[in-house]
Amino acid sequence: LHKDDCTMVIFGGTGDLARRKLMPALYNMQLEDKLPDKFSVIGVGRKEHNTAGYRELLSAAVAEFSTQTWDPDAWHSFATRIQYISSDVEDPASFQVIKTFIQDHTNQKEAVHNYLYYLAVGPHLFLPIAKNFSGPMSEGELEGWRRIMIEKPFGQDLATARDLNKAFCASFSDRNIYRVDHYLGKEMLQNIMVVRFVNTVFEPLWNKDYIDNVQITVAENDGIGIRGDYYDRTGAMRDMVQSHLLQMLAVTAMEPLRSIDEERIVSSKVNLIRALTPWPGDKIDTTMVLGQYRGYLEEKDVATDSSTETYSALKLAVNTPRWQGVPFYLRTGKKLEEKQARVTIQFKEPLSNDVNLILNTLSLEKNRLLNLLVIKVQPQEGLAFQFNIKKPGSAIEIVPAEMDFCQPCAFLINSPEAYECLIEDAIQGDKSRFSSWNEIESSWTLIDELFKSYKAGSGKLNLYEPASWGPRQADSILSGGKVRWWS
Ligand code: BG6
Repeated sequence: LHKDDCTMVIFGGTGDLARRKLMPALYNMQLEDKLPDKFSVIGVGRKEHNTAGYRELLSAAVAEFSTQTWDPDAWHSFATRIQYISSDVEDPASFQVIKTFIQDHTNQKEAVHNYLYYLAVGPHLFLPIAKNFSGPMSEGELEGWRRIMIEKPFGQDLATARDLNKAFCASFSDRNIYRVDHYLGKEMLQNIMVVRFVNTVFEPLWNKDYIDNVQITVAENDGIGIRGDYYDRTGAMRDMVQSHLLQMLAVTAMEPLRSIDEERIVSSKVNLIRALTPWPGDKIDTTMVLGQYRGYLEEKDVATDSSTETYSALKLAVNTPRWQGVPFYLRTGKKLEEKQARVTIQFKEPLSNDVNLILNTLSLEKNRLLNLLVIKVQPQEGLAFQFNIKKPGSAIEIVPAEMDFCQPCAFLINSPEAYECLIEDAIQGDKSRFSSWNEIESSWTLIDELFKSYKAGSGKLNLYEPASWGPRQADSILSGGKVRWWS
């Protein structure tokens, strides 16, 4: 793919995302020679800074958050690409500064005409900003391309997501709207497709005949930190489930692809998300459990009577022939015992008569002989497979054993940060690792339905202790007590 020269304009240039993720990702790209030859960054923020002050602020952030070693020479050559415009994005007049900048550049010799915008601001600012992309900032007015990257959550529900989409589509064609879900940039999420589709030992078993249940866990040990204002309006379902967890589920369960290209990946994921429903026949209390960690109400910028959930657990069904009867368990939360994102595939108990005969003669309980495939997304990246072996030295005692593949140990490199991959994709015009509008629309449809049933049901919020695995009520959604949460 071709890397066009371009200028990246980051709205929210002094914010948390820009300092912790975007600028460190760009610095890493500079070190790895992944940036186009003519590439510059304009940070746009409310705070008063001149360009020198802004570069200084960023150097401290990059030194702290980059996953690469700090190299002062590399930083200095990257810093010369950075400028700052102080502007209040809620004030339409201030957009004029950016429009004038673009217009002036257009007239300069050897100017770069392509612009990549990044909305690294709070989601309540997306709509006001969207309305200001007109004239030289929007597509088609002047030469060069205009692309926009928008953070999640894209809306608060289906209705607000539709409004937002309409506003962006007024200035950009869908092809140029990059809806970010940074989990799609994580190496192991991409790897799920390869592990599934390119291994004869897995693909034939990837269905209801061989798989008992699938569990997707994204646990964090941190609380909400300084993001109370955003988080208290959002909660775990909108912050994590609607985007990251449903994308993990979609990649795990989508129908096989004939080739790994953008169009097929997106349409296979859309079909999968559209096929999701709460577990049929169960009451909402045994399909969805919400929780809040003890101490949340004392967090900064959180309402003292807040009923925002910091934990959620769900039991979903995928209504496709491949997955009839297979529960998909999802759980995510803040202030849990450890940081961990993984997909666990639990295979069925032995099915064949021959295996059953052997087990009977040995008086072994077959439900103790599990096969598990664990796809470790973070913090360690890798795959683990649990199978059964004879315990050495015993007559015939069967015990579980594990094959554990550690990705960074095998390749001796750290995977690139998700944001590096996504920025690189946007510069190259590749949308395969972004959420499409249809995926967002169908995931909000599901989330809205779940919330509606939950409110009509008990609507209960379960308290849990920090550093635990969440409220014990989450165990009640696991089928008939035969299944347990894997961590
Ligand atoms: C973000 C959420 O999208 O993902 C945060 O808004 C969450 O609340 C973060 O902490 C988790 O990302 P990661 O890459 O650290 O797992």
